[in-house]
Amino acid sequence: MGFIADSLNRIQPSATIAVSMKARQLKAAGRDIISLSAGEPDFDTPQNIKDAAKRALDAGKTKYTDVDGIPELKAAVSAKFKRDNNLDYKPSQISVGTGGKQVLYNALLGTLNLGDEVILPAPCWVSYADIVQLAGAKPVFVETKMEDGFRLRPDVLDAAITPKTKWFIFNSPSNPTGAAYSESELKALTDVLLADKNKHVWVLTDDMYEHLIYDGHKFFTPAQVEPALYDRTLTMNGLSKAYCMTGWRLGYAGGPEPLIKAMSKLQSQSTSNPCSITQWAAIEALNGPQDFIARNNAVFVERRDLVVAMLNQATGLSCPKPEGAFYVYPSCAGAIGKTSAKGTVIKTDEDFVTALLEEEGVACVHGAAFAGSPAFRISYATATETLKEACTRIQRFCGNLK
Ligand SMILES: Cc1ncc(COP(=O)(O)O)c(C=O)c1O
Repeated sequence: MGFIADSLNRIQPSATIAVSMKARQLKAAGRDIISLSAGEPDFDTPQNIKDAAKRALDAGKTKYTDVDGIPELKAAVSAKFKRDNNLDYKPSQISVGTGGKQVLYNALLGTLNLGDEVILPAPCWVSYADIVQLAGAKPVFVETKMEDGFRLRPDVLDAAITPKTKWFIFNSPSNPTGAAYSESELKALTDVLLADKNKHVWVLTDDMYEHLIYDGHKFFTPAQVEPALYDRTLTMNGLSKAYCMTGWRLGYAGGPEPLIKAMSKLQSQSTSNPCSITQWAAIEALNGPQDFIARNNAVFVERRDLVVAMLNQATGLSCPKPEGAFYVYPSCAGAIGKTSAKGTVIKTDEDFVTALLEEEGVACVHGAAFAGSPAFRISYATATETLKEACTRIQRFCGNLK
């Protein structure tokens, strides 16, 4: 198809969106499907945030705004960075976009040249590598291991850095593993970046799951634990996950002014401002009561513990208990090479999730989509009863493998 741009041949459609769509189609066709594929909370957006949106609508806040965010929202973001992360970002150092995804996209497309390298600790969120490739740059996956709690080892980071490395993308708590770094674990990584030979590397930290961290673990972000990295760090965050606002589309970042300006320039030639109503709702989200987050987290912890326990009872699966986010990432190494009840030979984690969907109606995302095989991702941001039923089906599926 010569008409389609070559750049699009370098990327894949989002695997998580593809699995969610397939699950929706099967459901619409009458199949009994449980989808554990979507990366979004099942909780509704808090009422005070919805009310702020209604007020904005009634007040006629329906016009174009400044491209990268209204001053009131930039002030709220600036206050959030100070309050939660002890980071000073002036409004001129803040960019607001249509979801964290757009902010990341702006940062990567706005900085990468052909042949640049971007280090991605794998397994990692599906979109990083594709955005890097769209920009003509090269994703460099560095492996994290289950036995290290899926945390990157400093020597592995150091060995991956070359003169072409432009960014190190960091994501804690992580999608898909839920792994979170302690202050000292993160400091060990930032120390690597302080070495003379690594001073050209910038950090793009994706703090999307900042508030979804459990069991007394604390959240840390790179520029906070290592102030010397402040001038080469983009601290990205958003409202989708903790504020249950996936559909509203709002993300933001703080960073050095020239980078923020470049990101805004790119956004000015694509979407322009994020939705005006959403921006007013975001101000309420950031400045308003935060207590619902702890309430939601208590439910997430219960569900995580349930899912981890039930998956570890399934033959051939091994599931670590993560510190944060709302995902678990079990290994299915013990299922590879076996045959399912309906005769599918499981050669890869994609075969595993495909057969699981077809035979038991449970939709999960295969580890290959996150560059971490053989494993699969389960989102436990779903009603507890539904999770129990899903895990029962997974146990049955695994128990039937021969
Ligand atoms: C790690 C991570 N970063 C960024 C995003 C993008 O979120 P949004 O564009 O909804 O703000 C997601 C969403 O799944 C994610 O999991």
